[in-house]
Amino acid sequence: MSLKQLLMIPGPTPVPDDVLRALSQPMINHRGPEYIALQNSVVAGLQTAFQTEFPVQIYPASGTGGLEAAVVNSLSPGEGVVACPVGAFGDRFAEIAETMGASVHRVATPWGEPVTCEALTAALAERPETRAVLLTHNETSTGVLNDIEALAAAARSVLPEVLILVDAISGMLAADLRPDAWGLDVVVAGSQKAWMLPPGLTFLGISPRAWEANAKARMPRFYFDFKRMAKSMATGQTPYTPAVSLIYGLEVALGRILGEGLPASFLRHERMARATRAAVEALGLRLFARSRHSPALTSVLPPEGLSARDIRSALRKDHGVVVAGGQGPIKDVIFRIGHLGYVSEADLLGTFSALERVLTAAGHPVEPGSGLSALERELAGGATL
Ligand SMILES: Cc1ncc(COP(=O)(O)O)c(C=O)c1O
Repeated sequence: MSLKQLLMIPGPTPVPDDVLRALSQPMINHRGPEYIALQNSVVAGLQTAFQTEFPVQIYPASGTGGLEAAVVNSLSPGEGVVACPVGAFGDRFAEIAETMGASVHRVATPWGEPVTCEALTAALAERPETRAVLLTHNETSTGVLNDIEALAAAARSVLPEVLILVDAISGMLAADLRPDAWGLDVVVAGSQKAWMLPPGLTFLGISPRAWEANAKARMPRFYFDFKRMAKSMATGQTPYTPAVSLIYGLEVALGRILGEGLPASFLRHERMARATRAAVEALGLRLFARSRHSPALTSVLPPEGLSARDIRSALRKDHGVVVAGGQGPIKDVIFRIGHLGYVSEADLLGTFSALERVLTAAGHPVEPGSGLSALERELAGGATL
């Protein structure tokens, strides 16, 4: 018999039963009144979840599609972009801009660290022609949370009109992000993260400044054209066939998200992240991220003599616990524990119970229960943000 699986990766994340049931509802006419009411309701809910007063667009695509949409709707070929990659997904964002013809400068930051305001402002001061800055809210490949509020303010202190495009795919709902209050222009999210939905939808928040840029942006676009989407959305529709099942699921997921409330969601993610870090360290393992630890996932270095790949494999085969590996140059260097979205404290306890047993079986000396008691202590304590 195959083991029951505990999915502890940083996306796709587990989907609650009520959302799964919503996904299985019969099809409706995507041009009919039921769909229009459904879409209008989820767009209103998304605005609240995004903390924005402007309509949020929904495209059937994974998060990468949303990043491409952010770029091609904001820029013209040849325009200057300052990208701030702190890991694999920041690199991808920069690569998309390059592929679409932007002239991209990368601010170099060692993996495991956040980008600093000083590095960003220095790059912008040397490049006054910069049209857009690319930032990653939560870098999923390393487990680092950038300080978007400070970075956006720092960028604007040098270039007041620069566009700020943010990949918030794995960070939104796990950590605070305020597009309107912080002056962010295009903010991208992805359904398979803290939204508790399957992969397949990307959400984009668009500021008035981004709309002004959109009118002049000449990068080619069709499917991801903001203007076409906005025109259809004004009538409660989409220009092309929407992912109706995922929109059903989104309605139920938004009920959960807004029912909990954003502050409670941020606090829950922070508590789980702190408890995970405490348990990792109690087991004598080291964290890969050196500061500004992610509330959505924790990246872990295996103990001396053990490989991340072997630990992951034993967790999965012997205990049914699925954690993620690293990416790019740190592929087999770390493993990553996701604790975003529909993940419970009991899921974390199960994960660390399995991890203790895997480490012991592999010959790494672990005091039985040491990780678990650190975890429980932190979970019981009242984390503040
Ligand atoms: C921060 C970040 N950016 C971009 C992506 C890419 O999203 P997708 O795989 O949905 O295209 C991910 C996915 O994990 C991510 O975590």
